[in-house]
Amino acid sequence: MNYEPSTTTLIPNLKSKISNRLPQHVAIIMDGNGRWAKKRGLPRIAGHRQGAEVIKEILRCCTDWGIKVLTVYAFSTENWGRPTAEVDFLMLLFERLLRTELEEMHREKVCIRFLGELEALPPSLQREMRRAMAVTAQNQAIYFNVAINYGGRKEIVRACRDLVEKVQQGELLPEAIDEGLIQQFLYTKEVADPDLLIRTSGQMRLSNFLLWQLAYTEIYFTDTLWSDFNREEFSRAIEDYQGRDRRFGKV
Ligand code: IPE
Ligand code: IPE
Ligand code: MG
Repeated sequence: MNYEPSTTTLIPNLKSKISNRLPQHVAIIMDGNGRWAKKRGLPRIAGHRQGAEVIKEILRCCTDWGIKVLTVYAFSTENWGRPTAEVDFLMLLFERLLRTELEEMHREKVCIRFLGELEALPPSLQREMRRAMAVTAQNQAIYFNVAINYGGRKEIVRACRDLVEKVQQGELLPEAIDEGLIQQFLYTKEVADPDLLIRTSGQMRLSNFLLWQLAYTEIYFTDTLWSDFNREEFSRAIEDYQGRDRRFGKV
């Protein structure tokens, strides 16, 4: 990953402007790569390639600004329904990115984790994922969660099954099951729920992302396509978040 000082124009005092009431955990539905490519008369995969560059910049912003957790939606359980060539390309892209960026991410103390049913992914990709998780496991600058073959409903089903198994084995009483315990059976058990969710490309839906965890998350939608998203757009989302009144049901 390119962690050289960013070559994009920095908004003056951007860091001090947004340092107040920073979200600790930002989740992103990175949408619009296909439309970005189509607008340019390019194949959809060109949009995904560009989108990967954007992830690097946004992760960099998070480490620069002090955001502790970044969770990105890279591939949903529903995305298997896309043309095989596109799915294959995405799997290769993920694998290549892990190979080329791991060293730099490790140097920057990024702790990388994958959320989703990883067993269904190509074995060579699984190997790179396991390696990346093992190498960066002790890093603490930022937790970078990548949701791959992730579905929010499947995640909840999986938690239910695991809980039932514990009950059947006599390790758990049904009345001990509460919200906190369910949270411990989700992929995100180690991190607090997202403070801010960003979805690009003008679509206003969750598409099965973090259904449990987003219960009280502030949501920011932008028409900007993911492949066009950048540091300035990201800072706008953060500033918008900072102006929100988070009530959690109170007055
Ligand atoms: C998001 O961009 C990336 C993935 C789902 C992998 P899309 O590929 O969904 O782009 P659009 O929505 O078709 O423009
Ligand atoms: C959501 O985007 C999934 C990812 C960004 C990985 P999609 O493009 O797959 O979502 P829908 O189909 O528009 O809801
Ligand atoms: Mg899409």
